[in-house]
Amino acid sequence: MIPIWIDLQVRGDDRGSLVALETGRQIPFPIRRVYYIFGTKPGVVRGLHAHRKLRQMTFVAQGSCDMLLDDGRNRVSVRLDDQARGLMLDRMVWHEMSNFSPDCVLVVVAETEYDAADYIRNYQEFLRHVHPSHS
Ligand code: TYD
Repeated sequence: MIPIWIDLQVRGDDRGSLVALETGRQIPFPIRRVYYIFGTKPGVVRGLHAHRKLRQMTFVAQGSCDMLLDDGRNRVSVRLDDQARGLMLDRMVWHEMSNFSPDCVLVVVAETEYDAADYIRNYQEFLRHVHPSHS
């Protein structure tokens, strides 16, 4: 169930640190897209959707934020504040990101190119997908 964390190897030397993300190693799906969210204004909540098919993994390259995960049965809030850990964002998980530090750079690797049709942006509709017998 949620949350699923992936520990990343930090390769450091006297110059600083480096983390690598590779398909089939740290990332359990083919990477077709990478995007990053930064400069988030105070008080902003992002996300507020689920994906029908898309799997993603999220990381903070810098700073911190909170991630609420909701699979329609359980709801958990976790903090992303460690560059050496990634959080799995599975398909059909409602997610909301908040409490961004001013320096936060949230990196997301995704299994497919951007597809607006894959989004469920209405929470009640999301619940109907998760619990079809209740609708
Ligand atoms: P949005 O879905 O609102 O971001 P979030 O769910 O993280 O709050 O995306 C903001 C804008 O960026 C919106 O116009 C769609 C666009 N976008 C892309 O063009 N490609 C992408 O890969 C993503 C994630 C968003």
